[in-house]
Amino acid sequence: MGLNDKEIVALSGAHTLGRSRPERSGWGKPETKYTKDGPGTPGGQSWTVQWLKFDNSYFKDIKAKRDEDLLVLPTDAVLFEDPSFKVYAEKYAEDQETFFKDYAEAHAKLSNLGAKFDPPEGIVLDDTPVQAVPEKFVAAKYSTGKRELSDSMKQKIRAEYESFGGGPDKPLPTNYFLNIIIIIGVLAILTSLLGNY
Ligand code: HEM
Repeated sequence: MGLNDKEIVALSGAHTLGRSRPERSGWGKPETKYTKDGPGTPGGQSWTVQWLKFDNSYFKDIKAKRDEDLLVLPTDAVLFEDPSFKVYAEKYAEDQETFFKDYAEAHAKLSNLGAKFDPPEGIVLDDTPVQAVPEKFVAAKYSTGKRELSDSMKQKIRAEYESFGGGPDKPLPTNYFLNIIIIIGVLAILTSLLGNY
């Protein structure tokens, strides 16, 4: 991604905020003394004591190996083990202003690298129309030219099919209403033809 050591260390400081939940990522304890009362849904393991306050406590706490109740992932621990990372981790533990400055720059760089959304048209959880302009689809050079329908589009088509009574193992039933209209139309044409004789 083109991030240098300083930026990797600074961005890791985002773990000052939030919690890890074993039922989501597999990392962290189900609950600690810092998370058992929330706020929000209680539980999980935070990296810091005040896990909704953005400061340099993440670096201070990892360095001090402060408490078994605070999470240290292998990728957090390595910031004080690897000599090239350690320079910055030590600096940030001592100097919050430098951490804030470097974090802001690294976060802006990360954001500007862009994020790809899959599916490109986004995911709609309710009936609110999507305002965002979908990203233009550009087929890769190695593409076969065959464009696969996105999962959300397949779901929409399936829902419409099922609303008519069809299903993967069930063909659509005969449309009686349409048949009646066709019969009436044919009879009307025949009547008008016979009436002319
Ligand atoms: C070395 C790279 C990284 C690894 C291995 C990593 C790993 C993790 C893991 C395992 C969790 C817990 C997820 C869960 O159980 O819900 C997590 C949460 C989090 N990560 Fe990272 N992360 C990395 C980099 C980043 C970066 C670059 C940022 C932001 C700039 C970030 C921000 C967060 C935040 C804010 C949370 C808490 C989410 C919450 O409270 O729901 N992480 N990360």
